[in-house]
Amino acid sequence: MLKILTVFGTRPEAIKMAPLIRELQGQRERITCRVAVTAQHREMLDQVLELFHIEPAYDLDIMAPGQSLFDITRRALTGLEQVLAAEEPDLVLVHGDTTTTFVAALAAFYRQIPVGHVEAGLRTGNKYSPFPEEMNRHLTGVVADLHFAPTATARANLLREGVAPEKIFVTGNTVIDALLATVDPGYRFHDPILESINYRERRVLLVTTHRRENLGEPMRDIYLALRDIVTAYDDVEIVFPVHRNPRVRQVVREVLGELPRVHLIEPLSYLPFVHLMDRCYLVLTDSGGMQEEAPALGKPVLVLRDTTERPEAVEAGTVRLVGTGRQAVRDETARLLDDPAHYRQMAEAVNPYGDGRAARRICRAILYHFGLAAEPPEPFQPSGFCIKGSAL
Ligand code: UD1
Ligand code: UDP
Repeated sequence: MLKILTVFGTRPEAIKMAPLIRELQGQRERITCRVAVTAQHREMLDQVLELFHIEPAYDLDIMAPGQSLFDITRRALTGLEQVLAAEEPDLVLVHGDTTTTFVAALAAFYRQIPVGHVEAGLRTGNKYSPFPEEMNRHLTGVVADLHFAPTATARANLLREGVAPEKIFVTGNTVIDALLATVDPGYRFHDPILESINYRERRVLLVTTHRRENLGEPMRDIYLALRDIVTAYDDVEIVFPVHRNPRVRQVVREVLGELPRVHLIEPLSYLPFVHLMDRCYLVLTDSGGMQEEAPALGKPVLVLRDTTERPEAVEAGTVRLVGTGRQAVRDETARLLDDPAHYRQMAEAVNPYGDGRAARRICRAILYHFGLAAEPPEPFQPSGFCIKGSAL
């Protein structure tokens, strides 16, 4: 039996690991798959664990209000030392670029346990942007023995850094597996605010922000731009599930609280969130994962950052990097509201990220690596497959 321990701590890691855990748990005769969460996020993680019926064997419960990078690193490392000693897995699987990801890879290395990195090879090339994620994924990649690159671009990044080709598998991104498992054409919102909005007559801007490098003035500028927009366009509604970080909440409330047609709501569970993304007009976000999901649903995305590690949808024209400046955010949003041809061009559904079979490929690659499958998986190739308008 192959003993695999998956370790994660935040909402997006959980969403993107859920399809893989399901796949690995389906291989009961060959694999034992257990889950350890650091709970770097608490409520936002629990929403995902509940939706996907994931029951962690270990929960380090490390989250503290306003935690620093030192806090997360210290608490996760101490907790994981004991988990790994108790579990002694053959492989530790981590996802993406959070501080939990890097610390779990480091902890596994200290115990000389092989590491598999899911969503490997994303790069901006700028050490401090996004911060600390660019360095987290770099450091995780240095430690990793198996690299599950979602796209050919990610694979090329790893090759450039000297990773051996036989250690890299191009799998597609498991986020598309999660999206496909969640989209339900008959879905209705339970939230009275979301259910009451007329998505055909109103233009709904879906907004999220949380990046550490945007905290403070950049976020204030973004919100000022949103205030300009909602004041200028009376058919626009803003739905903003506000991240639980107190430093985000404070500025959001100051700038956007009490404005008509601005709905500041709690973070949504993935099920309603996906359907909100499907029904909105436009997405404004500094999120990584939403840059992958929204294009597959045919929604334009304005990325509130100066860099992106996800160039594929930018190249396809569905995603635009606009930064955080008040004027740039306002002007790019206004252009999408005023110019139907420009909007149509950006709303072309594109999906360079997956075909719903990423988890299956990763599972096969693991079995192959441990001599339990004769062949490696076929690499993922983008096929133009999209989920556009599925819930409408
Ligand atoms: C973290 C990750 C980031 C990832 C993001 C996904 C790091 C350093 N950052 O950023 O890479 O993109 O998660 O959302 O790994 N909080 C709660 N409840 C929750 C979650 C957060 O109250 O369920 C509050 C706490 O006060 C916490 C703060 O938010 O201290 C910040 O959380 P943290 O995980 O440090 O940073 P994120 O911005 O969420
Ligand atoms: N998401 C969610 N509820 C929300 C906001 C986002 O379920 O209220 C999902 C979203 O669909 C995506 C993931 O959370 O899959 C993105 O998480 P986040 O933006 O926090 O992190 P990042 O992707 O930037 O690491």
